[in-house]
Amino acid sequence: MAESGHGKVVKLPDRDPKPAFSKEDLVFASEEKKRIAGFVEEYEKPDGAIMKALWLAQEKFGFLHPDVIQLVADEVGIPYAQAYGVATFYTQYYKNKTGKYVLDVCTCFSCQVCGGYDILHYLEEKLEIHKGETTDDGLFTIQEVECLGACGSAPMLQVTNGPYVHHLTREKVDALVDALQNGQMPSFTSITLPQDEDEMGGNRRTDVDKTEAYRTPPVAETVE
Ligand code: FES
Repeated sequence: MAESGHGKVVKLPDRDPKPAFSKEDLVFASEEKKRIAGFVEEYEKPDGAIMKALWLAQEKFGFLHPDVIQLVADEVGIPYAQAYGVATFYTQYYKNKTGKYVLDVCTCFSCQVCGGYDILHYLEEKLEIHKGETTDDGLFTIQEVECLGACGSAPMLQVTNGPYVHHLTREKVDALVDALQNGQMPSFTSITLPQDEDEMGGNRRTDVDKTEAYRTPPVAETVE
């Protein structure tokens, strides 16, 4: 609990009082402990291993509940606050239970001027949830995220820390949601940025109208 300059007590983020895992489940297997020890050995100081150890924990437990962060911190040998700081800095680490598919919609600068918020709001309306929420069927969670390094194919989103969907349109969002509901990844997802004009389907700077992928015009108004 911290105190502000005016003597008012400011509540710090709570550790979730409800345990999400039983004591028996909240452990690393010996193989996982070995892997974390290996991460620690790779770095000069134990805190260098925290990102890999958190990732391993997320893959095992599904999300980083405070008790899981504590478990990782203890295993790596660093304070809870340090592990918590890393886990909460990156949207790729899930702090709450998520749906099967996490749709990370980028609204950082390039995506924003190319309609990132239109896509986010369309997805929210379509799935009838707000960002940060999960659909009742447990299938989708929406997150609003910062730049994912694919500004050249904005607006874009990422599916569960995996495939990217570039040059988003409402039609592509519809097709993506349909495909994921059927447990498939549509053909227009990719795990890398297109590296050449063939992959882009043409020269997107001069042949925009011939390029199926590039249909979302920037929404920013030109200031005369
Ligand atoms: S601004 Fe969206 S990927 Fe960079």
